[in-house]
Formats: sequence, structure tokens, C-alpha cells
Amino acid sequence: QSSTGTDEAKTAKQMNLLDNASNMLTNFLSGAKILSMPTAEGAVSDLFGKPLFFSLYDWFIEHGSVYKLAFGPKAFVVVSDPIVARHILRENAFSYDKGVLADILEPIMGKGLIPADLDTWKQRRRVIAPGFHSLFLETMAKMFANCSDRMIAKFDNLLEAEASRGGNKIELDLEAEFSSLALDIIGLGVFNYDFGSVTKESPVIKAVYGTLFEAEHRSTFYIPYWKLPLAKWLVPRQRKFQSDLKVINDCLDGLIKNAKETREEADVEKLQQRDYSNIKDASLLRFLVDMRGVDADDRQLRDDLMTMLIAGHETTAAVLTWSIYLLAQHPSKMKKARAEIDSVLGQEPITYEAIKKLEYLRLIVVESLRLYPQPPLLIRRSLKPDKLPGGYNGNEDGYSIPAGTDLFVSVYNLHRSPHYWDNPNDFEPERFQRQKASQVDGWAGFDPSRSPGALYPNEIIADFAFLPFGGGPRKCVGDQFALMESTVVLAALLRKFDVNLRGSPESVELVTGATIHTKSGLWCQMKKMSSSTSN
Ligand code: HEM
Repeated sequence: QSSTGTDEAKTAKQMNLLDNASNMLTNFLSGAKILSMPTAEGAVSDLFGKPLFFSLYDWFIEHGSVYKLAFGPKAFVVVSDPIVARHILRENAFSYDKGVLADILEPIMGKGLIPADLDTWKQRRRVIAPGFHSLFLETMAKMFANCSDRMIAKFDNLLEAEASRGGNKIELDLEAEFSSLALDIIGLGVFNYDFGSVTKESPVIKAVYGTLFEAEHRSTFYIPYWKLPLAKWLVPRQRKFQSDLKVINDCLDGLIKNAKETREEADVEKLQQRDYSNIKDASLLRFLVDMRGVDADDRQLRDDLMTMLIAGHETTAAVLTWSIYLLAQHPSKMKKARAEIDSVLGQEPITYEAIKKLEYLRLIVVESLRLYPQPPLLIRRSLKPDKLPGGYNGNEDGYSIPAGTDLFVSVYNLHRSPHYWDNPNDFEPERFQRQKASQVDGWAGFDPSRSPGALYPNEIIADFAFLPFGGGPRKCVGDQFALMESTVVLAALLRKFDVNLRGSPESVELVTGATIHTKSGLWCQMKKMSSSTSN
């Protein structure tokens, strides 16, 4: 028996060697194939002069839908093709992880869904996704309306003060206002904490912005300086980051403790049918804690909450910012939106039922996300050698890529690609109401019937040419939450105020980190709607 054992060990060793040799060969060959990709040579100035996604777009037009971007010895594959995006995000999703993004976010989000390893992700995704069920979203719609009312009341007060000085308009940075509102909403929706940031400052609010600032800085900085030994203690910004994280973590720990003390265990189905009118803290945390048989430790819960706080805050604020920026430049579309708001809402509060009727406003939200996707790039790293499908750049075979390849799926390029959109740079919410037959081999065109019952156009309708929330198993869990939130806030704002940009549209400069935002705010002039304009 012992000689058989030795033979088996020998064979296993030989198989291993063979395996390694074949992997090396595949990597070598795929490396050669990747070498044959069209190559854009990036200069360091491309990283700092203007947002990177602008350059990625120019190179896409020059080099085609899949190209290699080389920065000295470092290379990224940039994908602007829906079939390749579908392959990476859906068909072969588990051959990829989040690569650079996980390195950046892990110190902040720990084992939250975005950076989590595959095993943790599988377990937590199964628990978190059912939390966004329809009764929860209906309850959230009321909360979105209440929070919007607080912002509207603040604007009313400012206008009243202005009126007492003889003026009739105020100037505000709406990007900052949306950021505060989105923070209040995500706090209440995810862990039932009222930041109250629309009307006040607090240490926790400052800590959230400090953390966001650091996350943003890391995502635009290409050397992971925060990993240097002792950086945590020696670099002043890193010390501040650690103390900001502590403030938020202490706050989240308190909320988790509180939720656990008031736990009412139930099965998922029961939780999804809950009567929210009796529940004071109808948040996702309540759902996660009450779910029977799922005893996540406090650390995991805290990572989950922190992830959703970061993922759902600036993203939604950005959608609102760009929606207003676009509407302000298109008075006829603004008028159409107002007419819809007036006819659907009248003087009534904004509810889930109303959202279903605000069709044009919903299309405005998704069209803004098409033109300004948040984030503009999805980041992946291949875990094993893979073959990307072909069919673009006159390349029928596609490219093989070795394990460890870093990829950017450029959502910005896909959303503005002349191959899939008519007048891709124009703001035209109506485009989503039209069917579009495919002119491109392998791409199925637009067809709303592919996703029956969807309230908002999604990646399925557009066969991955539209990816505002990603696609496949790692698709955003908060998509409906965010879309409904944006619709409610826009309706609340536009039915009360006349909004115009303070300067020219060109004066609003863009910057990016995780999201596309303005360089110095979205400064707007706001007046009360006169009855003639509101009719
Ligand atoms: C993932 C966009 C709001 C939670 C994603 C992804 C995108 C995205 C594109 C996929 C990332 C990838 O594949 O690499 C957005 C946009 C939002 C928004 C544009 C607002 C308009 C929210 C909200 C929440 C949320 C409100 C939570 C309440 C998450 C989480 C993931 C995610 C947890 C990771 C999912 C996973 O890996 O399983 N989001 N998001 N997002 N989003 Fe959102």
C-alpha cells in the first residue's frame, strides 16, 4: 500500500508540474495575444490634466472597442464593447475579481459586498439582496419624500429671508445640497440613523465626508501609499482617516447593538411581508438582524453597512446633480417634466404609486445616468486565463488574456458609443421609449419587452450597451432604491422651484474619482415657481 501511495504522490507531482507548465504556456501565449491588441500609450499627464475617462473615450474612437492602455510597464485592457462586457460581468463573472478596486476599498469596507472575497460575497449577497423587497421600497418612497421636504423647507426659508431683503431668488450649490440629502436618505434607509445633514453639521457627518474624501483620493492615486508600513500613524492624513473611520464605526456599532437588542426573528418571507406602518426603524439593518438563522457577527454587519453608506451616497447625489445640469440646458424637457409632475401629483404627497406614473421623470434619471455614469469605469482583474469574445475592430477571434490582467469596462464609452446610440452625446430621455434594431453582429439591440415589468430601463433591455448599475451577479443591490430616490427628489424640487444654472454650462468643470462630479459645485439660481410656469 505504501508503494501505491508513493506512486500516487509521484503522479500527482508530475500532474502538477504538467499543469504549471501548461499554465505558463497559456499565459505566455495569451501574453503574446494581448501584445497584438491595439495599444494606447498613456502619459502620466493623462492621469492629471483631465478626467481619465475623457482620454479613454478618445482612444476608444482611435483604437476600437478593446485596446490595451500602457502606462510604462503597467497595462490595462479597456473594454467598450457590450458583448465583451457581458462576458466579463455575467457569463464568466467568477473568473474575475475587483482587482485594484478591492485594494483601495478593503481598508474602508472590510468584507463588505464590493471588495469581499468570493466566499464572503456569496454568503452576504444572498442575505442582503432580498432586503430590497417591494414593501421595503414602498416604505422608503415615503422616507425619500419626507427627507426631500426638509430640503425644500430649507430653500423656502432662504427665499423668505431673501424676500425680506427685497430679492426673489437665491443662489445655491445644488451638488452640495444633494450630497447632504442623499446622506440623510442612505443613513435612514440602511441603518435608521438620521444624520440630519441637510440642516446641521456633526462630528459623524464630518467623519463620513473625511472618509469619502480619502476613498476618492485613493481611487485617483495609483500608488497604494496607505499600505506603507506605519503610514497609518505617521502620515497626518492617514491618522485623520483612521480617526474618521473610528467615529463612523463607533456610531454603526451602537446602531447594530441597538438593533440586536430589539431583534424579532423571522423567516425571509415573513420579513418581506412585514407591515411597516408598525415599525419605527424600517431599515435594511432591521431586516439583516431579524432574519432567522443568519447570525452575522457585528464586524461583518458593520462592513455591510459601511459599504452601502459609501456606495449609495455620492452616486445618487451625482445623478441628481447631472439631471439638473442637463434639464437646465433643455427648457422644453424641463417644461415637459414639470407638466408631468403637475398632472400626476397636483398637491398630493409623492408616493410609490406616483413614481410609477412619473414616466418621463424616470427616463430623465436614466438618461442622466447614461451621459454621466457613476462610476464611469468598472474595474476587474482576471483570476485565470480567459478568452474575450471577438467581433469588433475587424477582429473575429477575440483576444486571449492571461491571469492577472487588469481590465476597465468603460461604461462611459459604452453609453456614448456611436455604434449603439443615435446622437450619443445628446440629452434625449425619449430615446428609451423607442425600440432600436441592431446594426451590429452579436448585439441584440434595444427591446423593452426583454425586461417585462421593469420600472426603469436596464442592462437587459439594451443587451449590455447600457450599464448604469453594472450587470450579472455583481450588479448593484441598491439600483431600485437609488432610482426611486432620484425620481422623488427631482419631483419634489421641480414642482416648487424654478432652477437655472448661475453661469454657462461650459463653466461647470468635471472631475472624477469614484463618481463624476463638478470641480467647484453646481451653482444654481432658484426662484419660487410662479403659478403661470407651474401650470
Ligand atoms: C454595486 C452603481 C446606488 C449598493 C454597484 C455597481 C454599480 C453601482 C455600477 C457595480 C460595480 C461593479 O460591478 O464593479 C450605483 C449607482 C447608484 C448606486 C449609479 C446610484 C444612482 C446604490 C445604493 C446602494 C448601493 C443606494 C445601497 C443602498 C451597492 C452594493 C454594490 C453595488 C452593495 C456591490 C454589489 C455586489 O458586488 O454584490 N453599484 N449604485 N448602490 N452597489 Fe450601487
